[in-house]
Amino acid sequence: MAIKNMKNKIIIANWKMQLSLAETVRSAKKMKTKFSGFKKGKVVICPNFLSLAEVGKILKGGPIELGAQDVFWESKGAYTGEVSPEMLKEAGCRYVIIGHSERRKYQLENYEIIYKKIKAVLNTEGLVPVVCIGENWDERMTDKRDFILVDQLQKALGGLDIMSDQTVIVAYEPIWAIGTGSAIEPAEAEYAHKIIHLTLSDMFGIETVKRNFKIIYGGSISSKNAQEFSGLENIDGLLVGGASLNVDEFFKVAKLII
Ligand code: PGA
Repeated sequence: MAIKNMKNKIIIANWKMQLSLAETVRSAKKMKTKFSGFKKGKVVICPNFLSLAEVGKILKGGPIELGAQDVFWESKGAYTGEVSPEMLKEAGCRYVIIGHSERRKYQLENYEIIYKKIKAVLNTEGLVPVVCIGENWDERMTDKRDFILVDQLQKALGGLDIMSDQTVIVAYEPIWAIGTGSAIEPAEAEYAHKIIHLTLSDMFGIETVKRNFKIIYGGSISSKNAQEFSGLENIDGLLVGGASLNVDEFFKVAKLII
């Protein structure tokens, strides 16, 4: 039976590569106005790299925080095309999505790389990693999901020290539900979150998981289904793609989950 989750919830908008610089700036301004007075939980938007500094300035003084969609693991040097954790911080970022399934697919990111990125972010004071995990359709259909989730968590986070004041967000995103328009059954998400919770508890201890971790769901969330996820056990928030591109729709989703 689902137990109402009392943790401070978070909703993260992943704008991917969907908006131009001008559109991003317009949307960020609208978001700031729409959410002024929204005092509950945490709201984060993650625009493309190019827009971060500008959006950082726009969001200043408002309730919405800034996140990036990726990061590199070194702090400085000859790494063409990369952006360091410190640079993200300078632009006003507090959150960084790491290892999104689209990066695993198109940039061939693996969990060795993901581990290095998480480590670098945890070593940068004030930055919070949003670590993406999740199985694909074949893995789900062959009953490998639990194993995949445990394996991804161990590869991504195994051996890392989490300080008492640090937060780590794990985003469970079943790859087969992303961008399809239909989220998975809430009970199935709740089950996966339980596996994640148990695995993290094994790795870091129950108290650390309670204090320092949040587990959120992502994959075709909209105002039509967000409510079904809001009261579930071990679901501390949502990572929203498509539905976050429309300010009114994203606001509706935020009100339903937080
Ligand atoms: P979606 O994307 O909400 O469009 O499915 C979620 C994500 O990829 O983070």
